[in-house]
Amino acid sequence: MESDKKDKIIADLSMKVIALSLLVFVLIIVFLIVIFHKPEKVEEQQPFGCGTAAQLHGNDSVSFEDTAGKKLFGRNCAVCHSLGTNRITGAGLEGIFTRIPSEQWLFNYIAHADKVYHSGDAYAVKLHKDFPDVEMPDFDSLGADKIKEIISYLKNARNAIP
Ligand code: HEC
Repeated sequence: MESDKKDKIIADLSMKVIALSLLVFVLIIVFLIVIFHKPEKVEEQQPFGCGTAAQLHGNDSVSFEDTAGKKLFGRNCAVCHSLGTNRITGAGLEGIFTRIPSEQWLFNYIAHADKVYHSGDAYAVKLHKDFPDVEMPDFDSLGADKIKEIISYLKNARNAIP
């Protein structure tokens, strides 16, 4: 009799332990789900939180990958270029990929506008005639990767390709 009771108590206890461990297990899973979901949510919000140039110029079709390029454009280019047709100091960049000679040309021009012009490049010479007062600065100090990010941002910006 005594030992039956003991067995029952032990059985009860182990049920409780199992139930408790299950609860802890579920809690850990929930905790993990919460932790792993958070960064995604933060990323989703980024495009709306950290834009400068694109917001100024009403661009709303920028994807996550472009946020670095967007920031770079905002810091380095937006002071002289809009993404629309309006001239600031340089040309509005709407439809830019339809008029420049090539993407490689754009890369070279962002890095060394001056060199491209002095090489006698016909399009750069024409640009200089259209914008006689100011010269576009060189951005080679940004490095190739950042220049490429800016180009990819321009490609995805709503107005850059009509
Ligand atoms: C100080 C003003 C200034 C800044 C900053 C500037 N640009 Fe320019 N940009 C110009 C001017 C002026 C021209 C016209 C050609 C010239 O004089 O070099 C030009 C020309 C261009 C063109 C050719 C435009 C056309 O209609 O074909 C592109 C593309 C361009 N810039 C992109 C950029 C990008 C990208 C950046 C940022 C990395 C940038 N620019 C920063 C002044 C600027």
